[in-house]
Amino acid sequence: MKVDVLLGLQWGDEGKGKVVDVLTPNYDIVTRFQGGPNAGHTLEFNGEKYVLRSIPSGIFQGGKINIIGNGVVLDPLLFMTEAKELAQSGHDLTERLFVSKKAHLILPTHRLLDKANEAAKGKAKIGTTGKGIGPTYTDKVSRNGLRVGDILDNFQQKYEAAKKRHLETIASLNLLAIAKGGEPVSTDGLEDLEANWMEGIEYLKQFKFIDSEHVINNYLKDGKSVLCEGAQGSLLDVDFGSYPFVTSSNTICAGACTGLGVAPNKIGEVFGIFKAYCTRVGSGPFPTELFDETGAKIRTIGHEYGAVTGRERRCGWIDLVALRYTIMLNGVTQLIMMKSDVLDGFETVKACTAYKVNGKLTNEFPFSIEEGIEPQYVEMKGWNTDLSKCKSEDEFPQEFKDYIAFLEKELETPITILSVGPDRDQTILRKK
Ligand code: GDP
Ligand code: IMO
Ligand code: MG
Repeated sequence: MKVDVLLGLQWGDEGKGKVVDVLTPNYDIVTRFQGGPNAGHTLEFNGEKYVLRSIPSGIFQGGKINIIGNGVVLDPLLFMTEAKELAQSGHDLTERLFVSKKAHLILPTHRLLDKANEAAKGKAKIGTTGKGIGPTYTDKVSRNGLRVGDILDNFQQKYEAAKKRHLETIASLNLLAIAKGGEPVSTDGLEDLEANWMEGIEYLKQFKFIDSEHVINNYLKDGKSVLCEGAQGSLLDVDFGSYPFVTSSNTICAGACTGLGVAPNKIGEVFGIFKAYCTRVGSGPFPTELFDETGAKIRTIGHEYGAVTGRERRCGWIDLVALRYTIMLNGVTQLIMMKSDVLDGFETVKACTAYKVNGKLTNEFPFSIEEGIEPQYVEMKGWNTDLSKCKSEDEFPQEFKDYIAFLEKELETPITILSVGPDRDQTILRKK
């Protein structure tokens, strides 16, 4: 058996959580392989709404096993809050949510370091989610991190050493922030936060800590099917995204190999998910961004506000140069298009098919998209139909069918699933 991977092709918030939930009945195991509580994956069904951060979106259908892989960074306090809320609403996960011993822990001081890093950057700040993601991955790569498996052995001593090191770094970052006229980060309240965090550590111990690479490969050997749920989006990948305005993990398909211990030849289907338009939250370049009322209209109709931070998401037209790039990086075999219903009332819709860079047309995603990019648009007639009521592709208006055919041709990949509303039921699987 192989693992299938579902991941975002834009700057995140494509609707990964919703579709993982829809696909869960086809799988035995659902896993997360990178990122942490910077993710906010929204699911809606039976009039209920959930936002998941660290826990995979495969927990709601059919009692499946869910795994937090080694590539994930885990904040025990946020995890406890999330798991307790789920338990209260009838989803007790202690028996079927496993956590890799090799997943790195987000410490309270990582969160402070995240804020201190941002303050020290001044105007050049990344606009992170403030969850400590960058500093935790920094500690991982610089070989200073604490892992879930460390909880079981002399943990307090390891924790204190890390905290001491972090506080020293925060003090020097604060000097930089002050020099730039910014606010230093206060460590007031750290003790309370720490006490709650340690409670989270105790809570986490109820869950099964596993060597996820062995467990997952053994499942595959036994003929079990596995779905890997990406977080963030490919344009936030630390290697291939709009660096430095990216997250700190490999969000692309290769991240599923390193974030789970699954070999490249074990990857099966790669589901690439995108919105019928494009959004971004936080700082950084966005060639097709709309600063006018069209952008504001997309934001209002699409409820484009961050699931984690509540921040306004920046909105723009779909960018096919960026999508071709991320389809290539991920080896996408099937496309999933989300939120077409948001464009229902638009007279025309636009798609960027090429960039003009220094007067030259290109189809390739350049080293820098900071400035000097002129997106080249194709404008098509809108469909002026309430797609959210459609139950099958036969009900789609011709203009929307034309839009789908246009995208498939441009992207050279089939669109096999279409989402026309936030609810689980508002999902159309196309005929093969
Ligand atoms: P994720 O991070 O990729 O899981 O996506 P988010 O949950 O952050 O953002 C997607 C948002 O769009 C959520 O509020 C979903 O409920 C909503 N959503 C998902 N699919 C659709 C859709 O097809 N149409 C509409 N209107 N909303 C959708
Ligand atoms: P999901 O999984 C959208 C963005 C942040 C910031 C940058 C770095 O819900 O799609 P970080 O806290 O990771 O260091 O922030 O990445 N970002 C996301 N944007 N969706 C996400 O996750 C994101 N996770 C991080 O806004 O610009
Ligand atoms: Mg999200």
